Amino acid sequence: MAHIAVIPGDGIGPEVMAEALPLLGWAMAKGRRVTWEVLPYGGNHYLASGETLPDAAFERIRDDFDAVLFGAVGDPRVPDGRHAEEILLRLRRDLKLGVNHRPCAPMLDALVPLKGVTASEIQLEVFRENTEGPYCLRGETEGSQAIDIAVHTEAAVGVLMRAAFERALELGRPLTFAHKANVLKHGHGLWMRAFTRLQKEFPTVRSAAMHADALLCALVQRPGDFGVIAADNFLGDLISDLIAAFQGGMGMAASANLAPAPSFRCSGLFEPVHGSAPDLAGQGLANPAGMILSTALMFRHLGWEQEAGAIESSVQEALLKGAATPDLGGSLHTSEMGQALRAALP
Ligand code: NAD
Ligand code: IPM
Ligand code: MN
Repeated sequence: MAHIAVIPGDGIGPEVMAEALPLLGWAMAKGRRVTWEVLPYGGNHYLASGETLPDAAFERIRDDFDAVLFGAVGDPRVPDGRHAEEILLRLRRDLKLGVNHRPCAPMLDALVPLKGVTASEIQLEVFRENTEGPYCLRGETEGSQAIDIAVHTEAAVGVLMRAAFERALELGRPLTFAHKANVLKHGHGLWMRAFTRLQKEFPTVRSAAMHADALLCALVQRPGDFGVIAADNFLGDLISDLIAAFQGGMGMAASANLAPAPSFRCSGLFEPVHGSAPDLAGQGLANPAGMILSTALMFRHLGWEQEAGAIESSVQEALLKGAATPDLGGSLHTSEMGQALRAALP
């Protein structure tokens, strides 16, 4: 029995989640044994109760659920983002979900914004370290000086780099390590040593280190030359949104937060790459594709390959037929788009 914690969160989070939840019922109808519970954590709950994610709720998620399906967090009424840190960043860190896997396989030529590039030429996967770097949230502001500390440990970097090399080997694709070791001599120096060690361990993987700034330019000019991209938390965040654009925009991109060697029952958190989009919230303008495709990633993680593949095919078929929310140039409401994206499910 798979037990799923559902956290819709803030802004468009609940709107796109409403289009993914029918997939759980559909999987059940197909014979999968699954239960889920919707948890209230997010901006509204925080403002009403003062609670972000209580320890007891965290421990329940960790010990009693197999995975988290997550919408988005971020509420303009909480300008310091405290609840986002204490919900999303805590879940990633304390569940030891060290790998943020963000695939990019555009579903339609028309969605690719790059001149002369077709969808089939692009097969990218970002492997973003998910627990460290500046996301440790250590630092201080003292008078006119502000300091953010980025922490990088051999353990976390090793986990991420190994997962990236293993994936590149599995896919038969090149691996690029994005870094700024020319400036971040300590932190990215440690990353470079991990990369060099794993290069020796995986001699058949075509791998190269690239300065992240130059990589971004090359990704736009020659996306087909790249496969798996390994990056730290901060650079991985930036690269994720660039390649979301290759898929048609923020509304299309899916992600999995994974523990390669799980320490707990809860071994994954699945969420779209986008945030709570306060500019769209409450208007039915959000594209639910990223959320639906993240649910497919969760199904694959649970071993439900057939259902995951069926969701991806159904989404692609709808897009081919022209189903589109305003971000894709169409006029479908979020719920109409959700219905269209699920329409070809068997
Ligand atoms: P965002 O991803 O919410 O929005 C960026 C742009 O993409 C906006 O123009 C938005 O309208 C558009 N967009 C996003 N999702 C879309 C969708 N499903 N369909 C169509 N268009 C979509 O990023 P932001 O504006 O930088 O941040 C807004 C809030 O979300 C902030 O509080 C931020 O911290 C938070 N955030 C949360 C997550 C998360 O929960 N994983 C991720 C990113 C940002
Ligand atoms: C993402 C988001 C988050 C991140 C924010 C909301 C902390 O941008 O999931 O990519 O940077 O990880
Ligand atoms: Mn981001």
